[in-house]
Amino acid sequence: MLLFLGVTSLAQSTNLPDVAPGVFNVTARIEIENTSVEAAWNALSDFPKYPNWNPFVRSQIAVDASNISLPTQRPVENTQLIIRCQIPPLPLPVSKYTLDNPLATQFSYENVTHVQPELRRLAWGAYPNPLIMAERWQALTDLGNGKIRYESREVFSGPLAPVLQPTMQANLQKSFDAQAQGLKLLLEGGGAY
Ligand SMILES: *[C@@H]1O[C@H](CO)[C@@H](O)[C@H](O)[C@H]1NC(C)=O
Ligand SMILES: *[C@@H]1O[C@H](CO)[C@@H](O)[C@H](O)[C@H]1NC(C)=O
Ligand SMILES: *[C@@H]1O[C@H](CO)[C@@H](O)[C@H](O)[C@H]1NC(C)=O
Ligand SMILES: *[C@@H]1O[C@H](CO)[C@@H](O)[C@H](O)[C@H]1NC(C)=O
Repeated sequence: MLLFLGVTSLAQSTNLPDVAPGVFNVTARIEIENTSVEAAWNALSDFPKYPNWNPFVRSQIAVDASNISLPTQRPVENTQLIIRCQIPPLPLPVSKYTLDNPLATQFSYENVTHVQPELRRLAWGAYPNPLIMAERWQALTDLGNGKIRYESREVFSGPLAPVLQPTMQANLQKSFDAQAQGLKLLLEGGGAY
């Protein structure tokens, strides 16, 4: 009985932090088998390999204050990212050869806000702007026996958020779900990690 309760609470738990509610948010959550949190962490941290598996974020480049590409293309707090993504996402599976859909291509300039390897959490979001605040968290949980959970959530607030919501929320939700599916395909399919 106690064991059952323990399993139930793990199934319902989240490793995403509590954050202030915004105007709207998108979230994704998926369980992945035959892998490890280390493998998932490495996949999320290796920006140059995103095009091999990620149907949402097609390019993510860490840059310095002059927008020059940095030698380390991994998440480091307080570095900036130039992101090219697909909203809605590309169909899976993708590879580095998959072409963008020009109508779905969007760019964003973001700041890496949290890199927490011990907590298995990463976050980056819209470069500070009085009109729009958006922070995207990604988190991993070890469920035991080679099973992990991947979660992601981005909360939007600020005066522009209600303007963006009607055109953005549903398609961005699809992109978040597709990235979760893409990560599962990569890790369960014996991909590079
Ligand atoms: C995300 O949206 C859901 C559904 O509207 C809401 O219940 C939840 O409080 C929101 N979370 C945050 C952190 O804004
Ligand atoms: C995980 O590995 C087991 C044992 O090899 C296999 O039976 C199962 O189908 C695998 N699961 C996935 C999702 O690949
Ligand atoms: C870096 O690129 C971003 C996105 O294009 C732009 O908003 C920002 O002003 C650029 N910074 C510099 C120093 O050019
Ligand atoms: C970027 O995030 C870091 C880490 O949270 C923070 O210290 C820094 O102030 C942020 N940069 C900007 C321009 O807001």
